[in-house]
Amino acid sequence: MRREKAAEAVDELGLSQMRIFVGIDLDDGTRGKIARFLEGVSGFAPEGRWARPDSLHITLKFIGEQKEEQVEAIAQRLRQVECAPFEIRVSGYGFFPTAKSPRVFWIGVHSGPQLPQLAREIDSAVAELGIPREERPYSPHLTLARASGRSGDPKGRKGDGPNLIYGVLQKRLAAMGEPDSDTLSFGSVTANEFILYQSQLSPAGSKYTKLERFSLRLAEGH
Ligand code: 2AM
Repeated sequence: MRREKAAEAVDELGLSQMRIFVGIDLDDGTRGKIARFLEGVSGFAPEGRWARPDSLHITLKFIGEQKEEQVEAIAQRLRQVECAPFEIRVSGYGFFPTAKSPRVFWIGVHSGPQLPQLAREIDSAVAELGIPREERPYSPHLTLARASGRSGDPKGRKGDGPNLIYGVLQKRLAAMGEPDSDTLSFGSVTANEFILYQSQLSPAGSKYTKLERFSLRLAEGH
């Protein structure tokens, strides 16, 4: 596998484990626009753990801790996934699991059917290798902040409940206008590859390393 050298965790049997996921990266233009927005609003929720602009990504499939051999098998299977390049529009915002019990602050990701189709295809591909399938519908987003000390899992979790972590931010955003209007638009990204990432957790925030890139291209004969 072509990849940068990345530290690996070791499980109780002494076997190397890596926490991995599959996602789509942003281009520098979109990343820059989001970075400026981030700079402008992060002060309204100082308790949040804000994403670093260089680590922003759209998750397609979270896989979790895997042994090194399994990571290689997953990469090999991902090389067979076929999908044509497509456009993704980045605009709007929201909170997971809900605006009233917010844990994750995200901005919206919009596309044609290709993005959920690609997520489904990747889900099925890695399911052949024993990775549990997603039970909930795919809801693409870009995570900008996680409530500190709480899980980054976008799904509802035990312990979620009303909180004021994002209270000031929510008021400021509401004053900016409708969430899906052009007032909060970050432009478009052409997805022409997806990426297998390693995630390394640390108190300073997660570090994401690109393990392998997979090109999107038209299937032969089209
Ligand atoms: P997020 O975009 O909502 O933060 C690496 O942890 C990536 O996988 C994160 O960007 C996170 O999505 C995503 N992810 C999805 N389900 C997850 C889970 N159960 N635990 C951790 N990360 C998860």
